[in-house]
Amino acid sequence: MKMIERKQLRQKPEKGTALGFGRYFTDYMFTMKYNEKEGWHDAQIEPNEPVRFDLATTIFHYAQGIFEGMKAFVQPDGKIAVFRPEENWARMNRSAARMCIPQFPAELAEEGLEELLKVERDWIPTEPGTALYIRPTIIATRVMLGVHASTEYLFFIILSPVGSYYAHGLEPTKLLVEDFYVRSAIGGTGEAKCLGNYAASMKAGEEAEEKGFDQVLWLDAKEKKYVEEVGSMNMFFVIDGEVVTPELVGSILPGITRKSCLQILRDRGYRVSERRISIDEVIAAAENGKLDEAFGTGTAAVISPVGLIRYKGKDYTINGGKMGDVTRMLYDTITGIQYGKREDPYGWKKIVG
Ligand code: COI
Repeated sequence: MKMIERKQLRQKPEKGTALGFGRYFTDYMFTMKYNEKEGWHDAQIEPNEPVRFDLATTIFHYAQGIFEGMKAFVQPDGKIAVFRPEENWARMNRSAARMCIPQFPAELAEEGLEELLKVERDWIPTEPGTALYIRPTIIATRVMLGVHASTEYLFFIILSPVGSYYAHGLEPTKLLVEDFYVRSAIGGTGEAKCLGNYAASMKAGEEAEEKGFDQVLWLDAKEKKYVEEVGSMNMFFVIDGEVVTPELVGSILPGITRKSCLQILRDRGYRVSERRISIDEVIAAAENGKLDEAFGTGTAAVISPVGLIRYKGKDYTINGGKMGDVTRMLYDTITGIQYGKREDPYGWKKIVG
C-alpha cells in the first residue's frame, strides 16, 4: 500500500500519562476516496495532519457521515490484536446503506487498518486499562448545498491511545433517565452509527452533566416507556437473576460488545433475555430490592457498572453503588480475551501484526 512519510514525528505521551479518551492522535492515518467514476480509490497511509475543505462541503451542512470504534491491544507476546474487526466493518456498511453512502470494500479497509497498526505499533499503550482506539469514519466531500446524497466521499482511519472512557474509570456511573429529549425513533437513524445521532444527544448530555450525572439513559421516542441505550453504551440489567438487555427494535445501536456479552452469558448458563424492558419495571425492581446490577457495554466504555439511576427526581442506588458479580465476570472475560490474559474460545481476536 502506498505510504507518504511525515517529515517529523509527533511527541508521544510519556509513559504513565493519564490518556483520557480521544485526546492524543498518532502520526499516520489511512485514507481512501470515492467518486462515481472511480469508485473507492487512492487507498494510502499518509501523515495525520489537518486537511483543508471547502466550507460548502456536504458534511459540514447535512452531516452525511458515519463512524466506527474499535480497539487494538498489545498481547503478552508483543503481537497486536484487534477485537472483532469484521463485525465493525459489517456494521459500518449497514450504517452506510442507511445514510446513502456507497458500500466500501471491507477487505481493503481491513488491509489499510492492519498496515496502519504495523506502522503505529509504538503508539499502542501498554498500561493496564489502556488501548489504541481506532476511529474509521466516512464523510461526504462533494461541494454542494442541495440536500442530496453526495457523489464523493472520504474514508479515513485515525488512531488514538486511550485510557478509560469515563474520567472516574471503573467507578460506577450515574445515569439520568431522560424523559423529555429523545435520541431516536423507529424509522430514524438510531441503529446506524451516524454523526448526527451524537450531535442530537449533546443537549440532554450537557443538562445531565450539569446535574452531576455521567450520561442519560434514553427511553423510546413514542411512549417514553421502554429503556433503549445510553448513547455511548448499550444497557444491561440483572433483575432477580435474569440478565435483560433491550432488544434491537430499530432505534438502538447493535453493539458488538453487547453481542459478545450475550454470547458469554448464554454459554455460561445465565438466564438471558433480549426484550423490551420498561423503565417502570426497572424502577419497581429497584424498589423491591430485585435490581441486582446494571451496566453498560461499548467499545470505548468496555463494561461499565452503573451505580445510580435518577428517574422523575428520585435516585435509585444499584448494588450499593458497587460493581456486581455479573458485571465483573463480563469485564474480566472480555478484557482477559482482549489483552491475551485468557483463552479466546470464540476466535474474536484478530492478530494483525
Ligand atoms: C465507541 O464505543 O467506540 C463509541 O463510538 C462510543 C462513543 C465514544 C461515541
